[in-house]
Amino acid sequence: MHESRPIIALDFPAFTDVKKFLALFPAEEKLYVKIGMELYYAVGPEIVRYVKELGHSVFLDLKLHDIPNTVKSAMKVLADLGVDMTNVHAAGGVEMMKAARVGLGMGPKLIAVTQLTSTSQVQMQTDQNIPTSLTESVVHYASRAAEAGLDGVVCSAHEVENIKAATSQNFICLTPGIRPSGSLADDQKRVMTPAAARQIGSDYIVVGRPITQSEDPFVAYQKICKEWQG
Ligand code: C5P
Repeated sequence: MHESRPIIALDFPAFTDVKKFLALFPAEEKLYVKIGMELYYAVGPEIVRYVKELGHSVFLDLKLHDIPNTVKSAMKVLADLGVDMTNVHAAGGVEMMKAARVGLGMGPKLIAVTQLTSTSQVQMQTDQNIPTSLTESVVHYASRAAEAGLDGVVCSAHEVENIKAATSQNFICLTPGIRPSGSLADDQKRVMTPAAARQIGSDYIVVGRPITQSEDPFVAYQKICKEWQG
């Protein structure tokens, strides 16, 4: 396991919500948070600087996908912001992923999105004209990401074993869709508990609503930490 802290998905629409939420944790509790498109596009780079100044780690989930040169330049900007981890779409290709790595440098972790978990096998075959199974496509993209020198992929916990077998045990598998025992699945289709994710080899787990929508987010966070750390 690479990271003992569950990554908290800060899926909030505005800066004030983030400030209120983070104030519910003791100042000495250094968190690992995920900032996604909604928050980043609403607030701008300031949100990353703010969270970093509080001493937290940041996974900036912007899923870049463009021509290699543009992605390289954008990654330089993100590296200067001090992100700890960010990502690209593996569909951008090996050349784009290599360019992303050059732009970001070797410090921050760089991971790839393979097939979005909202994509079904039929959708993939129809929309993308990829005739294989969904799992084969995911594993293929993960192998291309490894070849490009990326650190890992975002994936379903159910795909971890296949991905590690095709790449290496050190190749990071970051898994959302995590629900502690006894909590709501929300709109997630195939969920896994933190303990099951650990047993199956996930390196990072991302947890949003079970913490952010909880009555006491710090208590919910501590419970998930315990389950994740075993
Ligand atoms: O609230 P919840 O725990 O479901 O949030 C999970 C987070 O992980 C959200 O920010 C969601 O967009 C993200 N995510 C996901 N599944 C993926 C990729 C990202 O749930 N395959």
